[in-house]
Amino acid sequence: MSDYKHDAENIYNMPLRHDDIFLVTFPRSGTTWTQELVWLLVSDLDYSTAAKVPLSSRSIFLEFPMLMHKNIVEHLNKEHANNPDNLKTLQLMRTPGSEQVAKMPSPRFIRTHLPLSLLPPTLLDSTQVVYVARDPRDVAVSFYHLSREFKSYNFNGSFKTYWSLFIRDLVYWSPFFEHLKEAWRMRHHPNMLFLFYEELLQDLPATVQRVANFLGKQYRADQITELCTHLKFENFKKNPSVRFGNLKEYGMMAPKGEFIRKGKSGNWRDYFDEDMTREAQLWIDKNLQDTDMQFPSMQ
Ligand code: A3P
Repeated sequence: MSDYKHDAENIYNMPLRHDDIFLVTFPRSGTTWTQELVWLLVSDLDYSTAAKVPLSSRSIFLEFPMLMHKNIVEHLNKEHANNPDNLKTLQLMRTPGSEQVAKMPSPRFIRTHLPLSLLPPTLLDSTQVVYVARDPRDVAVSFYHLSREFKSYNFNGSFKTYWSLFIRDLVYWSPFFEHLKEAWRMRHHPNMLFLFYEELLQDLPATVQRVANFLGKQYRADQITELCTHLKFENFKKNPSVRFGNLKEYGMMAPKGEFIRKGKSGNWRDYFDEDMTREAQLWIDKNLQDTDMQFPSMQ
């Protein structure tokens, strides 16, 4: 992601607001799911706006413009050459994230896959941060699918090849473990909520309640139940407001590509052979040696 260098300094030094809410994750860890959850909790469960305004406009993905790199822009500009409106939107999508968030109304919802060390150093003292982590084997499978379907990634190889890149820290936003461990070390900070994707899967109501408590919001049990129904995989997958459908519209995602795919824990078992399973375990064990972080899926 060579375009990172153009906005890196601006992001690191971006002015923060006391009511900003950052959602920080390694890609494919349940970001979109949590993003909708956080937005609704803070916005007094405004389902009507949530249906009308796409999640990508309610909450900004800080590094998205960096994915609009030169090759993809040239390709898209050619495809949309006869549609001035689309060309204008494509141009807007390239506006650096730091500029986009500066214009957002408060409270700002900011989604990022950048690790804490690349975000403003006062982030946790000035804003609220929700971090979501997920079993790296499921992350890799999920990211592999997206990398084949999303034109900016344009990956054509097998899962085996993808996995070998993943564990050598050669996929975007790597290294995976450093990303998680940086956040894990800060999990007791009062402005940090550290969640696992698997916790959301295992007990959505209890996890939603934890997020509500963290954000200082109180809802009745029936409201939490309604929110869980809204967030349930089957409903979420059908919700046009959270599916990033415009990626397909602009030709950035393969027609059959799915941003919201399986929604399970342990899907990696269908992709790993014995050697890969062993290699994964060694890699995980090695990286967990210096931390007390434990994945719910491995307990
Ligand atoms: P899978 O590809 O394993 O299905 P992100 O939003 O960070 O890109 O994460 C995407 C992953 O979260 C995908 O995982 C997606 O299916 C899953 N996901 C999205 N919404 C979900 C939901 N409501 N319930 C469970 N999983 C969900």
